[in-house]
Amino acid sequence: MKRFEHKKVLVTGGAGAIGSAAVRRFLDEGARIAIVDRNGAAARELARSLGDNTIAIEADVTDEQNVRAAVETTVETLGGLDVVFNNAGISGVVAPVHELPVEDWDTIIRINLRGIFLVLQASLRAMIEGGAGGSIVNMGSSMAGWDVLSGGAGYVASKHGVVGLTRVAALDAAPYGIRVNAICPGVIETMLGVPASGDGDFKSSVQHFADRIPLRRIGQPEDVAASVAFLASDEARHVTGVDWLIDGGQTLQSWANAPTGGAFPKYR
Ligand SMILES: NC(=O)c1ccc[n+]([C@@H]2O[C@H](COP(=O)([O-])OP(=O)(O)OC[C@H]3O[C@@H](n4cnc5c(N)ncnc54)[C@H](O)[C@@H]3O)[C@@H](O)[C@H]2O)c1
Repeated sequence: MKRFEHKKVLVTGGAGAIGSAAVRRFLDEGARIAIVDRNGAAARELARSLGDNTIAIEADVTDEQNVRAAVETTVETLGGLDVVFNNAGISGVVAPVHELPVEDWDTIIRINLRGIFLVLQASLRAMIEGGAGGSIVNMGSSMAGWDVLSGGAGYVASKHGVVGLTRVAALDAAPYGIRVNAICPGVIETMLGVPASGDGDFKSSVQHFADRIPLRRIGQPEDVAASVAFLASDEARHVTGVDWLIDGGQTLQSWANAPTGGAFPKYR
């Protein structure tokens, strides 16, 4: 498939696990891509390894000037902006609400919500000016944008915010032919922090999560990239304002269906 031939794509957090998988997917499908990341060295290294159809831009998504400059550079260098994967984010500190330091709350909201807003706003402005429509995919989370995580106040608030913001932006952008959607991945293997070729602890950790997911597998960055590419492509031309789960059925497990003893005896 070459759904992104002649398309100009910007990916924030493009040097990270999920971002770089999306960059590769867009590239395979014919796009020219701006890899935007606060880790400039990693972004440059990735762009160098991927070749001529990528550029690297060092930018912090929490900084309005940085974000504007990144979008302007993308439009000038690639010749426009058709697709944005608004992905940069962090997990933050795990602590009960009553113990969470305010500075940790501020940090996560600043990156995961203000950052998403700034990139969304600058991208919409560029797309509206370009007059050719576009598609933006914001990064949410299944465990934190749909469900809640005990001890994850800042992360959950930020990802719930992304889902709400996405729905508002979908309405505001629709008159310009711009679609705005969110993706909500579940546990992605790279989150476990140990290389896939790692030791027994890593394997048992993967197994631990996989056993608790209805599809009995743990998500890969490429699984996320495939959904991002679909939502960003013209195949999803009638899809806007959704929060799209990519979690192997993880969030279907309410109390009644809990893997460790739900309301009814297991039938398998
Ligand atoms: N990995 C998972 O299991 C999972 C699940 C659901 C959602 N997510 C979300 O996916 C996104 C990407 O996560 P990942 O797992 O690829 O993490 P990652 O740490 O591998 O990648 C994140 C990238 O974002 C960049 N970044 C962080 N803060 C930035 C800032 N202020 N400005 C610019 N760049 C910044 C980092 O340098 C890094 O390259 C995050 O928003 C995360 O919340 C991840």
